[in-house]
Amino acid sequence: MNTYAMGLYGLGVMGRSLALNFIRRGIPTAVYSKAEGERTAFAAAHPAGQWTVCESPAELVSALARPRVVFLMITAGAPVDQVLEELLGLLEPGDVVIDGGNSHYQDTIRRCERAAKEGVEFLGVGVSGGEKGALEGPCLMVGGSSKGWERCRESLEAIAARAPDGGLCCGYVGPGGAGHYVKMVHNGIEYAVMQQLADVYGFMRDGMGLSASAMAEVFEGWRTGPLASYLVDITAAVLRKEEDGAPLVDRVLDVARQKGTGCWSVVEAAERGVYVPCIDEALFTRYHSQRRGDRQKCAQKLPCTAEPLDPSLTAPELEQALYAAILCAYVQGLELIGEASRALGWDVDLASVVELWRGGCIIRSVLLERLASALREGAEPMVLASSLREPLSQAEPCLRRTVLAGAARGIPLPALGAALLYYDQSRTARMSVNLVQALRDCFGAHTYERIDRPGTFHTEWES
Ligand code: 6PG
Repeated sequence: MNTYAMGLYGLGVMGRSLALNFIRRGIPTAVYSKAEGERTAFAAAHPAGQWTVCESPAELVSALARPRVVFLMITAGAPVDQVLEELLGLLEPGDVVIDGGNSHYQDTIRRCERAAKEGVEFLGVGVSGGEKGALEGPCLMVGGSSKGWERCRESLEAIAARAPDGGLCCGYVGPGGAGHYVKMVHNGIEYAVMQQLADVYGFMRDGMGLSASAMAEVFEGWRTGPLASYLVDITAAVLRKEEDGAPLVDRVLDVARQKGTGCWSVVEAAERGVYVPCIDEALFTRYHSQRRGDRQKCAQKLPCTAEPLDPSLTAPELEQALYAAILCAYVQGLELIGEASRALGWDVDLASVVELWRGGCIIRSVLLERLASALREGAEPMVLASSLREPLSQAEPCLRRTVLAGAARGIPLPALGAALLYYDQSRTARMSVNLVQALRDCFGAHTYERIDRPGTFHTEWES
């Protein structure tokens, strides 16, 4: 008793894998799950070692060395509040509670305050990398109580992933809900990049007529170039997978769902006025995919004057198009984190966040090195940093040609198109919204500003 350094509460796939990771790293771990079956299965599946299965939350707490650290890996939402209340009745001041689920950052802010009333340090930690990551080394985006972080830092760093240069993919990003905010936007970027990969796949399938195995070969070729990343690796693997001698991807229904973090990112961006079209399009494309019946009806009835494909569009051109688009997606996500950090006074260091993402997480990619350098340059806006501006402007013609070719053939490329839109909107010195503002004033006397004089004006436009 009182000897275990880590208490893992929740033994679903992620909780179980994290517990094993702690145990393998030599961190004595006590585990507990409300589900008796999960407790029994854990006890039966693993050889005896520096771990114990507890039969109640009270037993879990009393098994832990002081200051106690309890890591929750349970369903986000109300269950976290219930378990936190239960634990606050058992823990002492100075103890730490970590929430590793995909919780909404505002809930995390509230829980930090609630725990602090009892002297308990609360951490909201974004955990990325899925089951394999949890087991072998996740990326950990830590937010909340800095005292709490110092108390469990060693254990968290021990289980985390490492970047290719050996850098730790575990770090404290800021107080309150900062860790969960960073994870939420990580997922928003994940949605955007996955949709960009799907756009290119759709373009090759429906525009170029390539088979899944031919596309697998193309993506395999991109695994070592400028697009080298986990998501490109698994795209190649998915396209390669066969069942009964035929590509399995061809049998997967074209309906994509989501669990909420992408939607939260878009709502956040809308409320903060941050332009994130790649994330928006990726999210709404998932929603629209669910209206499959309507799409199929319209496919029969709405004509498209498809033009022949631009023959100069080859795999290397598409690679460049994707490169530019993915850069834009990351920049949009980082701008959202930056805006929230300013508004909430978190002081998140974006370059450090990008460095954390270099290993263990779903959006790990060689591109992150470039993004980190761009952030360290400190240019405002970030796209003007020389380490971004140059590659973006070199790849932009390929992105433009691909999006044009998609439009000419009637192949929707939502997340590539959104990247081009972002690029063009960013470089438009004089936008067309002067007309919007004049119209607002015309029908609603909302007033307008002028380029030739200071002040606020109203005009009787129709007289
Ligand atoms: C990760 C993932 C993980 C998960 C989410 C998003 O970083 O390991 O982002 O948290 O995949 O559940 O998935 P949805 O697409 O279901 O929203």
